[in-house]
Amino acid sequence: MIDTLDQYVVFGNPIQHSKSPRIHSLFAQQTAQALYYDKLLAPLDAFTAEVLAFRAAGGKGCNVTVPFKQEAWSLATKRSAYAQRAGAVNTLMFQADGSIFGDNTDGVGIVRDITLSQHQSLLGKRILILGAGGAVRGVLQPLLEHHPAEIVIANRTVSTALELAQDFTDLGQVSGCSFEALEGAFDMIINGTSASLQGELPPLPKTCITADTFCYDMMYGAKPTVFMQWALEQGATQVVDGLGMLVEQAAEAFYLWRSVRPETPVVLQQLRTELMT
Ligand code: ATR
Repeated sequence: MIDTLDQYVVFGNPIQHSKSPRIHSLFAQQTAQALYYDKLLAPLDAFTAEVLAFRAAGGKGCNVTVPFKQEAWSLATKRSAYAQRAGAVNTLMFQADGSIFGDNTDGVGIVRDITLSQHQSLLGKRILILGAGGAVRGVLQPLLEHHPAEIVIANRTVSTALELAQDFTDLGQVSGCSFEALEGAFDMIINGTSASLQGELPPLPKTCITADTFCYDMMYGAKPTVFMQWALEQGATQVVDGLGMLVEQAAEAFYLWRSVRPETPVVLQQLRTELMT
């Protein structure tokens, strides 16, 4: 039965906790698309070979997660503008002419979650982004396309923040600095560091947040992250995790592959329920 369905997969290492198969199977059910989506652990030194073997076996496309997004970028023979600029690919589509199209849907995912699900406008806002790694690089272009007044990238390693900001200054007002050098309050703070994973919080001055600051963590979990807890303790009233971004980036990949856009709110609701139980 499964052999008659179009095959998709997510590659990563580790991969066992990936929610992508669940999300895509809910999308497929909802839109009546005949596809099967699985997860595959790729050995650290064999990502490209695994992807090509999956394609040779009839696979139609794949998602790519940590730590293979840069390798996926290299493997793609054509890339979307977002992927090109991000230097990372999270979605590959195998095309009939033998080419491999690479996209990065993370940025569209966060923007759709913030603007459509959370009803936050980015226009004219002063935005602070914490972290300057691959996750942040992947979302800068779509955020800047919504014309914030300014994006400040604060990072533990200041040189990385400065270099990252430099790569995007042609798209808008972007600068880099240390956490300690942050000045003034922000309309929005997005945590793109992996510090939450270690239960750590970047040393942020209290002056950067007010009750009206919209706070978003790109990470998610059954409980609020340390960044979210900090934001709530400072009195912020709008504090959100990245589960919606995960669902939205998946929806964008699904749309690329199937030309059908799933309804995301109901899937997010389902995932949230499953996360809490
Ligand atoms: P990813 O692909 O998830 O972005 P990454 O490229 O390794 O992963 O980047 C991780 C980001 O989290 C970096 O900005 C890192 O800061 P450094 O550039 O100084 O390493 C940040 N980070 C990780 N752990 C952190 C911590 N405990 N405190 C503050 N920042 C942290």
